Amino acid sequence: MDASTSRITNRALHSDAVAGLSQTPKGLSPKWFYDALGSEIFEEITQLAEYYPARTERAILEAQLPRIAAHVPEGAALVELGSGASVKTRLLLDGLPQLSAYVPVDISEDFLHATASDLAADYPALTVTPVVADFMTPVRLPDLGRAPVVGFFPGSTIGNLAPEAAEALLARLGHWPHHQALILGVDLVKAPETLVAAYDDAQGVTARFNLNLLTRLNREVGAEFDLDTFRHLALWNAGEARVEMHLESQNDQVVRVGDELVAFAPGETIHTENSHKYTVERLSDLATSAGWRVDDFLTDADGLFGVFVLGR
Ligand code: SAH
Ligand code: AVI
Repeated sequence: MDASTSRITNRALHSDAVAGLSQTPKGLSPKWFYDALGSEIFEEITQLAEYYPARTERAILEAQLPRIAAHVPEGAALVELGSGASVKTRLLLDGLPQLSAYVPVDISEDFLHATASDLAADYPALTVTPVVADFMTPVRLPDLGRAPVVGFFPGSTIGNLAPEAAEALLARLGHWPHHQALILGVDLVKAPETLVAAYDDAQGVTARFNLNLLTRLNREVGAEFDLDTFRHLALWNAGEARVEMHLESQNDQVVRVGDELVAFAPGETIHTENSHKYTVERLSDLATSAGWRVDDFLTDADGLFGVFVLGR
């Protein structure tokens, strides 16, 4: 074992990175953004003036809570995918006294456990059971008895999946026992300038979020990325209806990634994230194809963001 191999502390990230960086074009799953620092930087993003999705979804949930409550049965367990800091969740926990349990599901383990213990302390009547899982694979829920399950998938995190993968995930969620309703937050198509600004803010917080992926590779797989030689890029891909984030190499270079060497041409990018934007019709079709019914749709006055309430 040479010195670089011995520095690989995250085998799954290493094999994904080696596979993704040997493809053309180069790419990595956005799930790797979320180490503890990445989860914290994401929370900073939610406070940015340019990042309208977070505050808009929050305002919709706040304003329309009684309409949402009508879809949540007595004794229901709320299961949230990609729960992060569970900030918006607190609106539901405060406004839906019929909930008996909360199951936050996230890949960012330390952040999830810290958030779950804060919630358990703040909501003593609620059973809080965090689940560390990758929702791209089937997620096994803890034993919830006979409680009806209400899913919560906010933040437009579903937009980070390709539409086919999003449909497959929605179909899988339909197989959870007693899953009756799914509250799904989705960012809507709008002017490209607004979209790109949301992913390329003036303070450079999103750039830090993107570049943190290279810091993580350096620390967890013994990579040797020089962060000063990569630049954050956000662009609107109209054909695919998605904002793309990339890390662009500024020069011709060869970078060690664990025990592999990866060559970059000047201007070559690592495609790090897609954030698909939907029309109401397109998302409704996708949900219907996945076996769900659209029971309600809530939006803001400007039609920036949509909250779908799906039923089976
Ligand atoms: N729901 C919160 C956080 C959204 S950020 C909000 O709306 O503000 C996306 C969250 O999904 C992060 O907490 C991240 O850790 C989690 N996540 C991303 N990919 C994931 C995956 N494949 N499996 C599980 N969680 C994932
Ligand atoms: C979590 N996800 C929905 C965010 C998004 O908008 O795609 C992640 C993000 N990336 C850059 N800014 C925010």
